[in-house]
Amino acid sequence: MNLKSLILHRTSKDQIRKGITVLAKGEGIHVTDQEGKRYLDLVSGVTRPVHVGYGRKEIAQAVYDQICQMSYFTPMQFTNLPAIQLAEVLKEIAPEKIGCFTFVCDGSEAVETAIKLARHYHAFKGEPKRYKVISRRGAYHGVTGLALRVLGTVMPMRQIMEPLAPGTIFVESPYCYRCPLHLTYPACGIACARDVERIIEFEDPTQISAFIGEPIQQGFGAYAPPPEYWKIIREVCTKHGILLIIDEVICGFGRTGEWFGVQHFGIQPDIMTMAKGITSGYVPLGGVGCTEEVVKPIDVFQHLHTYGNHPVSCAAALKNIEIMKKENLIQNAKAMGKYFLDGLKTLASHPTVGEVRGTGLWTAIDFTVDKKTRAPFSLDRLTSLVNRAKEKGLIIKLMGPALEFAPSLIIRKEEIDWAIKILDQVITEEEKAMGL
Ligand SMILES: Cc1ncc(COP(=O)(O)O)c(C=O)c1O
Repeated sequence: MNLKSLILHRTSKDQIRKGITVLAKGEGIHVTDQEGKRYLDLVSGVTRPVHVGYGRKEIAQAVYDQICQMSYFTPMQFTNLPAIQLAEVLKEIAPEKIGCFTFVCDGSEAVETAIKLARHYHAFKGEPKRYKVISRRGAYHGVTGLALRVLGTVMPMRQIMEPLAPGTIFVESPYCYRCPLHLTYPACGIACARDVERIIEFEDPTQISAFIGEPIQQGFGAYAPPPEYWKIIREVCTKHGILLIIDEVICGFGRTGEWFGVQHFGIQPDIMTMAKGITSGYVPLGGVGCTEEVVKPIDVFQHLHTYGNHPVSCAAALKNIEIMKKENLIQNAKAMGKYFLDGLKTLASHPTVGEVRGTGLWTAIDFTVDKKTRAPFSLDRLTSLVNRAKEKGLIIKLMGPALEFAPSLIIRKEEIDWAIKILDQVITEEEKAMGL
């Protein structure tokens, strides 16, 4: 296969020389490459959108029907039935006051849209000076302009585009396993959250528009904050008139065993972003939800994507959500997530397994070369683990210092058992190679 005409995303020339896997088929939680090798996909397409699994003919049919019925029309001053219906369906499953929605093409665009919506809210309320956004070191919110501005990790992605527009304030993340403040939970008093108010005061609260954060964070590998964390952030945002944007691009649509990740923490976001699991990756779609309070002052949202509120993508999302409800996939994510985590915990006696963690079907193993100092694994070691697993027919991914797992929400016990067995083998092989 000649790959000269196709530019791959985040793939080095060296990786291309070594050989790129071309996938030809997907079915359930398995994919098959063009040579006929079958893999169990433990990361739902690696970027983790495929919540309902591969090969769902019902979604294909819904997309086909919508294309035949009404394929496209502008989202400006016109709308369409699937978009209206999707907004209504989301209102039923979203956190209580999130009742207004708009749709774009992916997660980065959802983040752009959310940040712009927050700015509109303040501008229409007579506070146009509020332009700064608080984000967290280790955050991931996408690759486009405003989303890149709040990207707190993956430095090459950020650095190559610098200088970025000013206006982002970075605060520390609640990553207790390797606390950036060198403190220990709970004696720390959640210093990473309490510190935010001091930073807000320094930056001038009247210039701050929003705080953005993933309810459970990707950057260190599926890291859930302490239970008090989001309540403290919510309180400080409310006190200073700052909107709280919860980025549900990964957590949304059952990944963590609730419809949305924020529902684990009992707080009310002002704005919410979503993508990935909204269509299970069958067609591109991102979305933003917000409270009525956010839209109330805004006369016109000065935002327009040609493919905004796209009827075909919205039809796919409606069918995808219908499948999740019909097959109780949120409950399955909770039950199988617990089973998976228990299985991963059996690997904790490996000398390199630092921390095993997870919420629902989003789990991770944080590796270390020294359980006392918690010094992280090198990128090479993690890459080696991923490659060893792939050779054995298991697709996993590395994330920061960890291996991350996010299978489709249809996964069953037998598939989890097999995956744990393979993980045990590859960790043992790697440790042997390290002389352990
Ligand atoms: C939390 C979060 N926000 C935003 C994005 C960007 O989404 P997309 O890749 O669809 O642009 C991602 C992607 O992984 C994400 O994890």
